[in-house]
Amino acid sequence: MMIYLDNSATTRPHQEVMNTYMKVADQYFGNPSSLHTLGMEAESLLTKARMMMAEHLGVKTKEIIFTSGGTEGNNLAIKGTALGRRERGRHLITTEVEHASSYETFKELESYGYRVTYLPVNEDGRIKTADVEKAIESDTILISIIHVNNETGVIQPIEEIGDMLRSYKHVRFHVDHVQGAIKVPLSLYEANVDMCSLSAHKFHGMKGTGLLYVKEGVPLFPLLHGGDQEQKLRAGTENVAGAVALAKAYRIERGHAIEGLAQLKRLRSQFLKGLEALEGVIVNSPTKGVADHIINFSIPYTKPEVVIQSLAAKQIYVSTKSACSSKLAEPSRVLLAMGFNGERASSAIRVSFSFQTKAQEITTILKELKQIIPTITRVKH
Ligand SMILES: Cc1ncc(COP(=O)(O)O)c(C=O)c1O
Repeated sequence: MMIYLDNSATTRPHQEVMNTYMKVADQYFGNPSSLHTLGMEAESLLTKARMMMAEHLGVKTKEIIFTSGGTEGNNLAIKGTALGRRERGRHLITTEVEHASSYETFKELESYGYRVTYLPVNEDGRIKTADVEKAIESDTILISIIHVNNETGVIQPIEEIGDMLRSYKHVRFHVDHVQGAIKVPLSLYEANVDMCSLSAHKFHGMKGTGLLYVKEGVPLFPLLHGGDQEQKLRAGTENVAGAVALAKAYRIERGHAIEGLAQLKRLRSQFLKGLEALEGVIVNSPTKGVADHIINFSIPYTKPEVVIQSLAAKQIYVSTKSACSSKLAEPSRVLLAMGFNGERASSAIRVSFSFQTKAQEITTILKELKQIIPTITRVKH
């Protein structure tokens, strides 16, 4: 039996979600913009999905923009604000530990004349709200921060930052909530968030679907021009089946959240206890302020690809930050930002759970790691 512990990379879609997707794609294939019955039926399903997600997130229906996923949501929020508010200012604030879909977007914007402040993190991977405030300038137009880090599980103080930003009306606040969705609840209202990205394939929805919450009145320059779909923020015929499947997946996961979150807590403590007993392993995820479903650890002087392939040979699936197959693995930018040395940042492995992960699966991976680790050839990065 396969043991899938790479849920931060992607999750397996729920069977009911796939059934919903198939049914909508098959029976409600009309274009929501068409004026006939088929079009109206498709539009009505899309509106229902939008209403459901708005209710789950505690926002207005028209504030939900369906996207192709987290990468698009982050790009739309960041580039959309940069272009849409360029007359207001050219300064942007983010962190050194963003997902590539935000980080690389900021790097690109620098070559178009924007100034970007990349806030550093402490050894626990966290930024300080006071540092965010200090970085704000009169022409700052956007602050974009990842909620739960995809490599380490570290949670940023989104509520505290949002609260501080109430005194800075000229700054828009975007949150990459892709890894936090359901597993680390966040109230968009309480946290004073203007924009928030979600991706369905991280909560058992379909790949290539997601949403961006955009608070009413927040100006954005669209990435895609054309028709009037999605509040004119994203032209193109809507992925109705994908959006309906997203809402279904969210509802299912949310329905399991109470037992699911308790299960993640138990799994985390079981796994950490097991890792402590393994020689040559150092845990990189901090002990506090961290999501329960992501654990990052290093086995210094090993190539993480080798560990991953050895586990995969036993049908146990985990991740390394780097998919690089060259002799020297690229160190993790996120782990380097936490102050870990190159060796530790180059030998990291990420294990990530879902609500469906079982204690027995943790017992098995620990047993396999115990066997594999002593057999791996040691190298220096
Ligand atoms: C924190 C974070 N942001 C954004 C993304 C990108 O999402 P998507 O794969 O839907 O484009 C990911 C997924 O890898 C992620 O982990």
